[in-house]
Amino acid sequence: MSHRCRLPGWESKKMSAEQAASLIKDGMIIGTSGFTRAGEAKEVPLALAERAKKEPLKITLLTGASLGNDVDASLTNAGVLERRMPFQVDRTLRKAINKGEVLFSDIHLSEVVEQARHGHLGHMDIAIIEATAITEDGGIVPTASVGNSASFARLADKVIIEVNDIWPEALEGLHDIYIPEMRPERTPIAVTAADTRIGTPYIQVPPEKIAAIVLTHRPDSPSANVPADADTQHIADHLIAFFKSEVTSGRLSNQLLPFQAGIGSMANAVLEGLGAAGFEGLTMYSEVLQDSAIKLLENGTFRFASATSITLGEEVGKRFWPNVEQYKDRILLRPQEISNLPEIIRRIGIIGINTALEFDIYGNVNSTHVCGTNMMNGIGGSGDFARNAHLSIFISKSLAKNGDISSIVPFVSHVDHCEHDVDILVTEHGLADLRGRAPRERALIIIENCADPLYRPALLDYFERACERGGHTPHLLEEALSWHQAVVESGSMRHLTESSSPA
Ligand code: COA
Repeated sequence: MSHRCRLPGWESKKMSAEQAASLIKDGMIIGTSGFTRAGEAKEVPLALAERAKKEPLKITLLTGASLGNDVDASLTNAGVLERRMPFQVDRTLRKAINKGEVLFSDIHLSEVVEQARHGHLGHMDIAIIEATAITEDGGIVPTASVGNSASFARLADKVIIEVNDIWPEALEGLHDIYIPEMRPERTPIAVTAADTRIGTPYIQVPPEKIAAIVLTHRPDSPSANVPADADTQHIADHLIAFFKSEVTSGRLSNQLLPFQAGIGSMANAVLEGLGAAGFEGLTMYSEVLQDSAIKLLENGTFRFASATSITLGEEVGKRFWPNVEQYKDRILLRPQEISNLPEIIRRIGIIGINTALEFDIYGNVNSTHVCGTNMMNGIGGSGDFARNAHLSIFISKSLAKNGDISSIVPFVSHVDHCEHDVDILVTEHGLADLRGRAPRERALIIIENCADPLYRPALLDYFERACERGGHTPHLLEEALSWHQAVVESGSMRHLTESSSPA
C-alpha cells in the first residue's frame, strides 16, 4: 500500500467502509465515481445500504453514469435513494423510478457538473471516489473511469477515497484530468484530437478535504453486453458500405473521422463489425470503450481511443487490464464533461453512433422511454453527440419483442433526439440517409429502407392518408400514437398489420 497511498500520514485517515459510511447523514447530496459500470465507489455505498436497513436514511446520489456491483440495486432495496441522476442501467432501480419511488433526473452527461458547479443541483456534501493510488500531495489517480469525479471532488465538502488494489498500478498516467474555469471567464479547451492531453494524470484534492481512506479489493462488474448476431452484422454492413461510399464521393477521407459509439450490445456489436472493413489508423473520441474498441485497437483499425470509461466483458478484460501499460500511448480517459463536450464534438467532427429504442417516419428518435412512459436507462451522452456530430447516426433493430413491436412508428412516443439532430438511421434492412431531405422524402426513405416488411404497408398507409390532409410534416394526430396504445392494450402492434387503416 505504500506504493498506492503516498500521501504522508495517510494512515490517520484510514478507516473501514462502515466507518466512512457513517459520515453520510440523512438528506445529504453525495457524488460518487462510476461510469457505465466502471470504476464506481463500491464498498462505502454498499456499507451505506447495509446501515440503512437498520437506520433508514435518504440521499440524493449523483454519479458519472451507471454503476456496477449492484450498488444501485442495493441502495434502492435499502430505500436510500431519494433522488438519482444522471443515468442508470439497473433493473431494480429502473422499477423504482417507474413506480415514482426514486426521483430520477435524466441529464445530458456533459452537463452534470456544469449544472452542479453553478448550484443548480444543490450543494454536494461528500464525494466518494475509487482510486488506483493517492499521490504524495493528495492527488487521486482514478481507476477504470473518470466520469464526474474530478469536479465532484472539487465541489464536495469532504472526499472519501476507496483505494482499490484490484487495479494495476500501471493505470497511473492513463488519465487526463482537466476542469474548465467558471463562466464567463472560461478559456477555450485545447483538445484538438483524440490524443491531445491537456491536464494532469490525477485529480487534485486539498489533502485536508480527504475525510476517509478505505482500502478495497473488489473488481468491476463485467459488461453485460450480448454478442453480435445476424441483425447487428447487417447493420454494421450497411454502415461500412455507407462509409466507403462517403470516401469514394470525397466527403470523408480514408481515416474517416473520430468515432463515438454508445453503450449497449448493439453499438458494441456494430462497432466491432467495422473491424472487417479494412479501415486502418482510425481514432475514437467517445465516452465509453467497450470490448469492440479494444479489439479494434488490437487489430490496428483504431490508432487511438479517448473516452471517460472502459467497460469490458470478462474475456477482453482478462487480457486488457494486466497489459494496460502497453496501451497507455493509445488510450486516455478524460472527465465526461470533456469527452462529451459539445464544442469539441462539433469542432473536431465526430461520427456518432447511438442506439434508438424506436424512431419515427420523420426521423425523431426515442432512446429512453418505452411507450413514452417507462424509463429504460436515460439519455446518457447520446444527446451530447447527436446534436453536435459531423454525422449523427442512430441504429436499431427494426423489430423488438419477437416482432410484436415495430421500432419504426408513425410518431415516437418520447423525443430524445429530434429530426433536426439525426442524419442517418440504420436497421438490419437498410440505411436511410436523411441529409438534406424534407419530411415527406424522409418518411418514404425510412419506411422503405429501415422498417420491417411486416410493418411497411401499415406505415405507408399512415403516411399516405396523412399526406391527404397536408402539412409540412403530415400526421393523423388521432392515430399518431395508436401503435403504442396497441402495445399498452395488447402487448403487440401486430394487428395493425392486418388492416391498412389502423383507426
Ligand atoms: N419498445 C419497447 N422495448 C424495446 C424497444 C421498443 N421499440 N426496442 C428495444 N426494446 C427493449 C429490448 O427488447 C430490450 O429489452 P430487455 O432488456 O427486456 O431484453 C431492451 O429494450 C434493450 O434493447 P437491446 O436490443 O438489448 O439494445 P441495447 O442493449 O443496445 O440498448 C438502449 C439499447 C437504447 C436501451 C441503450 O442503447 C440506451 O440506453 N441508450 C440510451 C443512452 C445512450 O444512447 N447512450 C449513448 C452514449 S452512453
